[in-house]
Amino acid sequence: MKIIVTKNYEMMSKEAAKLIAAQVIRKPDAVLGLATGSTPMGMYKELVHLYDEEFLDFSKVKTFNLDEYAGLSGDHQQSFCFFMHRYFFDHINIDRQNIHLIPGVSEDPEKAKKNYLEQIEASGGIDMQILGIGLDGHIGFNEPACEFSKGMVTTDLDESTINANARFFSLKEEVPGQAYTLGIQTIMMAEQIVLMASGRAKAEIMKEALFGPIRPQIPASALQLHKHVTVIVDEDAGKLL
Ligand code: PGA
Repeated sequence: MKIIVTKNYEMMSKEAAKLIAAQVIRKPDAVLGLATGSTPMGMYKELVHLYDEEFLDFSKVKTFNLDEYAGLSGDHQQSFCFFMHRYFFDHINIDRQNIHLIPGVSEDPEKAKKNYLEQIEASGGIDMQILGIGLDGHIGFNEPACEFSKGMVTTDLDESTINANARFFSLKEEVPGQAYTLGIQTIMMAEQIVLMASGRAKAEIMKEALFGPIRPQIPASALQLHKHVTVIVDEDAGKLL
C-alpha cells in the first residue's frame, strides 16, 4: 500500500486525477470504477481540465459506478447518475454506451444487479477503482457488517451515513434508507484501487481502516489485503497515519 499525503483537497484531487490520466494513457480502453460524493468531485474537475487541455482521450474508456441510492431514478438531482453526468460525463468525450450506472429504479432489482456484475465481467474487470470512505468505514455503500459482502448487494444505510448525506437533500427524511453497491469482493477484484479522503473528520477512520484489525465491521480495512492500493489524503485526513 502506498500512502500519499498532500497539502490540501486540491492537491489530493490532482494526485488522484494524475493516476487516472496515467491509466488512460497506458490503456486507452481502460475500465474505470467510479465513485461519487464530495471527495472525488475535485478529481473529476481536474480530469475535465486535462481533457480540455487535449491531454486525455476518453473515447474508448469504460466506466462502472460503484453504487446508487435505491429508489432514486437517474434524473433525480441527488442520484449518483445525475452527479456523474453533471460533474464528469457531460464534459468529456466518453462514448455513452461505455458508461455503466446502477439503476436506482428498475422493475427487477435482482436481475439488474446480476446484469451489472455480468457487464463488469464481460468488460474484462475493473482496472482502476476510485473510492471514498464513510465516517463509519464504508466503501461504496458497504456498511459495517458481520461479513465482507459479495457480488452486488442492497444495503440498509447506517444512521451516520444518512446524517452525513442529508446535507445534499433538503430534508433528512428524503435520504433513501437503502442503496445498491458493489460488494467488497467485487471491489477487491479491481486491478488497482485508489482510496481518497480529505478533512479532519476522516482522520480517525483512516487510521483504523489502514492500520487497525481487518474486519467487516470496518469494511475499508479489507483494502489492507489488496496488492495494489494507493491512498491519497490531504494533511487533515492523514493526520493520524
Ligand atoms: P464523501 O462520502 O466523499 O461525500 O465524504 C464518502 C463516502 O461516503 O464514501
